[in-house]
Amino acid sequence: MAGNGEVVSNKQVVLKNFVEGFPKETDMEVKTSSISLKVEEGSNAVVVKNLYLSCDPYMRNRMTFSENPEFASYIKGSPIQGYGVGKVVNSGHPEFKKGDLVWGTTGWEEYSLIKNPQVLFKIHHTDVPLSYYTGILGMPGITAWAGFYEICTPKKGEYVYISAASGAVGQLVGQFAKLMGCYVVGSAGSKEKVELLKNKFGFDDAFNYKEEKDLNAALKRCFPEGIDIYFENVGGKMLDAVLLNMRVRGRIAACGMISQYNLTQPEGVYNLMNVVYKRIRIEGILVFDFFHQYSKFSETVLPLIRAGKVVYVEDIAEGLENAPGALVGLFSGRNVGKQVVVVAKE
Ligand SMILES: NC(=O)c1ccc[n+]([C@@H]2O[C@H](COP(=O)([O-])OP(=O)(O)OC[C@H]3O[C@@H](n4cnc5c(N)ncnc54)[C@H](OP(=O)(O)O)[C@@H]3O)[C@@H](O)[C@H]2O)c1
Repeated sequence: MAGNGEVVSNKQVVLKNFVEGFPKETDMEVKTSSISLKVEEGSNAVVVKNLYLSCDPYMRNRMTFSENPEFASYIKGSPIQGYGVGKVVNSGHPEFKKGDLVWGTTGWEEYSLIKNPQVLFKIHHTDVPLSYYTGILGMPGITAWAGFYEICTPKKGEYVYISAASGAVGQLVGQFAKLMGCYVVGSAGSKEKVELLKNKFGFDDAFNYKEEKDLNAALKRCFPEGIDIYFENVGGKMLDAVLLNMRVRGRIAACGMISQYNLTQPEGVYNLMNVVYKRIRIEGILVFDFFHQYSKFSETVLPLIRAGKVVYVEDIAEGLENAPGALVGLFSGRNVGKQVVVVAKE
């Protein structure tokens, strides 16, 4: 690791163009700049060496120009930002010291100066893979945990359906639902992913939505008695088909709608009267609302990982050069499991 105060070269993934429609690798470029590893006297900032970066679907939304301060777009020509795992190289903040491992919002680059280290969580447990702090022990993990237990209010024996089920969030929701004693079905976009759902994550059934001509019929086949809980990751036609198959007093956790992120005109939803007939509760979840419960979450999930009661599949891309392709791949389903980019091993 480079020493204090040294200026080092810093490979970065920068946003080249604001994106419309499907993102392309060429909307980003890999550049080399330089960075001082020193923290200004009196500043609260920390400098981290980035080890693992997380590819998340919401990042697509930040690639479109927006003046909404609640969801600021990336800055053209600057490194894009996302969740990652890093090692503190230098710190002006009393709660962080050199050598600490952290996860939180960082830049897509080798080293980042983080001016507001309150966005970082300290990593206390390293008996599990560090990359897990981009997934099962990071933002997607809290999303799955809070989305399932708090928003879906599950009960033993209920019928649970999860879309984009083999991904970072979906694979966990399915395993939590199995641990709760639910009947669990997932959909995903390839034969390989369907096998993974059934054989690795223990789902009761799974189907490849790309091979189904009629999603309503596919759901009727998998849930002859209807769906109690839908964990919504994709939106669009899938949501419409699910609404036809929900049971009375069913719950839908609206976590994401990835099928809509690259459309200039969102698709309509036609079967909403079912919400009335069946008294369905649809509730959005935003992970930020649950970050304050991180300790409780990690104390619940770490023992499950250690006991092998929950497993986690990652798709690892090596090096920042491969990061744009990894991010763009989320929108064609290229990733099998949680998409991670390794920047450095230590
Ligand atoms: N609300 C929150 O706080 C929060 C936090 C984290 C994530 N999310 C949301 O949760 C969802 C899942 O995120 P993740 O991190 O677990 O991603 P992920 O599943 O690891 O990756 C995205 C997957 O979405 C599927 N997909 C892509 N385009 C699709 C389309 N047009 N129709 C159907 N499926 C499509 C692909 O899998 P297939 O091969 O199966 O198509 C792809 O692998 C996303 O909607 C994301 O925005 C929300």
